[in-house]
Amino acid sequence: MASLDISSVLQGGYQHPVSRSWQGRRQLTKSMFMYPLFITDDPDASVLIPSLPGQRRWGVNKLVAFLEPLVKKGLSSVILFGVPLSCTKDGRGGPADDVDGPVIQAIKIIIARFPNLYIACDVCLCEYTDHGHCGILNQDGTINTEPSVERIAEVAVNYAKAGAHCIAPSDMMDGRIKAIKRGLIDAGYGNKVTLMSYSAKFASSLYGPFRDAAGSAPSFGDRKCYQLPPTAKGLARRAILRDVAEGADIIMVKPALPYLDIIADAAELASDHPLACYQVSGEFAMIHAGAAAGVYELRNMAFESVESMVRAGATLILTYFTPEFLDWLS
Ligand code: PBG
Ligand code: ZN
Repeated sequence: MASLDISSVLQGGYQHPVSRSWQGRRQLTKSMFMYPLFITDDPDASVLIPSLPGQRRWGVNKLVAFLEPLVKKGLSSVILFGVPLSCTKDGRGGPADDVDGPVIQAIKIIIARFPNLYIACDVCLCEYTDHGHCGILNQDGTINTEPSVERIAEVAVNYAKAGAHCIAPSDMMDGRIKAIKRGLIDAGYGNKVTLMSYSAKFASSLYGPFRDAAGSAPSFGDRKCYQLPPTAKGLARRAILRDVAEGADIIMVKPALPYLDIIADAAELASDHPLACYQVSGEFAMIHAGAAAGVYELRNMAFESVESMVRAGATLILTYFTPEFLDWLS
C-alpha cells in the first residue's frame, strides 16, 4: 500500500455518513416535493387506483381529512388532476373549467382549509374531450393548434381565477405558454400566478397508470405528433428555450429517470429558472414492482431515483412518493 499514490485516494472523503451527506451539491428537502392528486366528481370518492400502488381518486369531501396529516408533516405543494366520470365530454373539453367540476371545487376547499399549501393545476384537455386527445382536432383527426391554444389559455385563466397558485399546461401544443402568459397578464394574474411549463414532455410508455387513473387515454391514435420522440434531445432543448422565451416561470422535464440528460440540459439552458421533473406514474409503478420482486428495498430505490434527479439539476420533483418522503425526511 506504500505505493498507493496520493491522487488515487478518494475514500477518505466519504468514510462517514456525515461526510457522505456533504457530497451532493444540494440536499433533499421536503419543499422539493410536489404531490399529484386525482380529484374526481363523486364528492365522497376514495377509490384505490389498481395500477398506481396506494394512490386514490379523491372526492372533494374526502380531501381535507386526507391532506391534514400530510400538511402537518410538511407537505408544501400539490398538483391537481381532474378525473370527471359523470360529466358529458365534448370536442373542446368543455367540462375542464366547470365551476362545479372537481378541480375548481378542490382549489376552493384546499385554499379555505390549508391557506399555506401551494396549489398547482395541471391544465390539459384530454381528461375532458370525447376523443381523449390533448387539443381540439381538425376533421382529419390532426391537432387544430390555434383553437386548442385559445381553449387551453381560457381554462388556465379560469383556474387562476378560482385561486390556483400555479398553472401547469401538459398538452404540448405549440405556442400555449405565450398564450397562457398573455391571458394571465390580461386577466390581472401576471403577478399572482406561476406558469410551470411541461416543456420537454416525451411520448412515453410510462404514462399508462395515469391514463387508467384519469381516464385520459386517446380513443384513437397516439400522442406522437405533439409529445416529443424519446430520441429527441435537440427538440427538447429547443422546446425548453422556446418556453423560457414565451414566459414560463418554471421548466419541467417528464418523465424523469430515463431523461436525466434532458434535466441536465435544462439546468444549463434555463439556469435562471427553477427546474421541475415529473417522476411519472409508470416510474412509480416500476419502482414498486421491482421492490415487490425483491430487486431492491423500496425506500432505497426511491431515494436513489430522486437523488439522481437532483444531481442532474432538478429543484422540484413531482412524485407519488411525496407522502413517504415527508416521513423519510423527518
Ligand atoms: C395529461 C397528462 C399526462 C400526465 C400528466 N398530465 C398523461 C399523458 O400525457 O398521457 C402523466 C403523468 C403520469 O404518468 O404520472 N396530458
Ligand atoms: Zn393531455
